[in-house]
Amino acid sequence: MTSTPGRLLVRDLAQLASPSGRGAPLRGAGLGSLDVVEHAFVLCEGGTVTAAGAMRDLPALAGEVAEIDGRGLAAVPGLVDCHTHACFAGDRVDEFALRSAGASYEELHAAGGGILSTVRATRAAGEETLAAAVRRHRGWMRRHGTTTFEAKSGYGLDRDTELAQLRAIRSAGGVPTWLGAHALPSETGSADDYLDWALAEVLPEAARLAEAADVFLERGAFDAGQARRYLLACRAAGLSLRLHGDQFTEAGAIPLATELGARSVDHLEATGDDGVRALAASDVVGVLLPASALFLGRPMPPARALVEAGAAVALATDFNPGSAYCESLPLVCALACTQLRLSPAEALAACTVNAAHVLGRADRLGRLAPGYAADVVLIGADDWRHLAYHLGGEVVHTVVEAGAVAWSRAA
Ligand code: NIG
Ligand code: FE
Repeated sequence: MTSTPGRLLVRDLAQLASPSGRGAPLRGAGLGSLDVVEHAFVLCEGGTVTAAGAMRDLPALAGEVAEIDGRGLAAVPGLVDCHTHACFAGDRVDEFALRSAGASYEELHAAGGGILSTVRATRAAGEETLAAAVRRHRGWMRRHGTTTFEAKSGYGLDRDTELAQLRAIRSAGGVPTWLGAHALPSETGSADDYLDWALAEVLPEAARLAEAADVFLERGAFDAGQARRYLLACRAAGLSLRLHGDQFTEAGAIPLATELGARSVDHLEATGDDGVRALAASDVVGVLLPASALFLGRPMPPARALVEAGAAVALATDFNPGSAYCESLPLVCALACTQLRLSPAEALAACTVNAAHVLGRADRLGRLAPGYAADVVLIGADDWRHLAYHLGGEVVHTVVEAGAVAWSRAA
């Protein structure tokens, strides 16, 4: 691993691929519009891309410049994972084995396992242990090309642990989301009592630590009225809004998200035609989590219908110990192409520029063009589409973050 402040030139790349234009999010027919340059370079200065294009247009560079030989490699923007639950202690491998023998995710949850078993482990871990877990998970993600990740709380459901989770996520470089309404903790009476308490006791400090709020709107978790109350309070405290919605049932997530101007509704495996139309007519991004659908043996979300209807979609891992023990966005891109019928170019835009938009960072992240952050993923193939083509393979060769090599297979 090297650290190169100053200037870095990635030269003689077989290809460079970057979502077209400068706006966000990309939607409809525009989702797959991609600029691909053969025999290319990327020049990074002070953590920012200052030039990118064909080698024949490489400007003369005076002074010291570190170089990466890009021969045989393809560059894409650093991947953005806009939906993870990367801050947790313990694992749920026992539950995984039970599910393989036929138990359902919802049954395990209703029996006090599932999310609540990770809550018990996370409460028992100290803040430094949680921060170390997020750093470890971040390292896993980085080796698959993720240069920016969001992570949610939601495994504390008490004041100290929720806030410790948010601090741990920040300290490990993640974009923190307060998932204060993830599940009902076992010590609490009703969902309404829990929300009264969480909004009075946790929200004031959570709003200082987090950028967004999220709620699990689902049977067995929180209903639409409760989600509305939670999100309105969070919006008033300055947080952007996200929802886990339509995972198992359509319980009103899309109407609520459009009414409140949420950034995203995530999951959508149960979304029907009306939901597709409503999302397409809104500015809310549909975040697709095919690794979660695969891991739970659930139907895939109606991705093609959403794109054709003009909805903005993003892709994310949903990395968590219960429903998606998967940190790889390249694998998610492969699932997007094989299960969701997105093209490789659509999948790339969905986990770069559109995911950056969900995190409010599309002016800086998600493209390889002047003015964008110098976060670059080098694919170990001469065609960038190997990102989605290599199913579960070691597709990432080198990861550059803020203009410095953060990880390399060659090292
Ligand atoms: O996005 N559905 C709710 N929350 C997570 C799973 C969390 C867990 O199982 O620990 C999800 O699938
Ligand atoms: Fe999730």
